[in-house]
Amino acid sequence: MIKVIDVAYPILQVPSLNKQEKFLKDFGLVTSKKTNNELYMQGLGPHKFIHKTIKGKKKFIGSAFYAKSMNDLNKLSKTEDFSEVKKLKSPGGGFVVEALDPDGLKVEVIFGMKTKKFNKKDLVAEPFNSGGIGKETSPRKNQPRRVGKPRSSKIKKLGHLAINVNDPTVSFDWYNKHLGLIPSDKVELGKDSGIYVALFCRCDLGNKLTDHHSFLLQSNLSSDLKSGFNHCAYEVVEVDDIFLGHEVLKEKSYRHEWGIGRHFAGSQIFDYWRSPYGHVHEHQTDGDLFDNKVKPGVIDISEAAGMQWGPDITSTFGNSEGI
Ligand SMILES: [Fe+2]
Repeated sequence: MIKVIDVAYPILQVPSLNKQEKFLKDFGLVTSKKTNNELYMQGLGPHKFIHKTIKGKKKFIGSAFYAKSMNDLNKLSKTEDFSEVKKLKSPGGGFVVEALDPDGLKVEVIFGMKTKKFNKKDLVAEPFNSGGIGKETSPRKNQPRRVGKPRSSKIKKLGHLAINVNDPTVSFDWYNKHLGLIPSDKVELGKDSGIYVALFCRCDLGNKLTDHHSFLLQSNLSSDLKSGFNHCAYEVVEVDDIFLGHEVLKEKSYRHEWGIGRHFAGSQIFDYWRSPYGHVHEHQTDGDLFDNKVKPGVIDISEAAGMQWGPDITSTFGNSEGI
């Protein structure tokens, strides 16, 4: 069918938009639009918003993806699973088609959202004087590194969304069929069992590079068989943003979930925090970039749950509190 080009935003529902906005600002996002019933937050990149919250009982509503063209929305609208094309009333406008995935979680595919002016300088990582050959010819000459502490993380874009589902394989077939997502790593429950408890998926951009995973389908075994939200990950500009963000969120007494570490699948440096409603939000940077030629990897659950360095995965990660 079609091939989406990236994830756009998660849609969460919580009782207090003020409380949510406060957390998201401390996390590094900026208010784009706030009404009595909706809150839209943006990053430093071109997107009008990259996080959406609706006021109401705590709940995960769904995930939004960017389509490549209006034609792709029209194509989806002709399938049984998707709605007709509707106008978006959110910041930047545009159009949307909607569906429910196999777990009844909402999926929006959007096109035509206007972009905002942004300062490219905000998104440029400072030259890093890494060790090894090359250090002596670094572009950072006679110039001390100052990061502007204390400050929240500088967020570029939504990195990936992760959801807990009944059967990751069934969900993968649905997302592959309708949105063209392809597998990057499959997490197997025991060697050669053929049972996959998580599927890290990326967009198929042909020979263009894309994030190792834009979407993660994980078994809802960790959340008492309840399907819904696992976490949302935001890409920060550089590694200092991981640590600066950590200090700010710790100082403000938010609940830390897991990190700082470097993932195995996708290789990102990561740090996970709980919002006041228990929804897990991740800062990440330095993830792998794949084109569509890389074959899916199969990794054992013991490797996938772990990291290359950093603390062990928490027993609460992916639990029903954050659903
Ligand atoms: Fe993640």
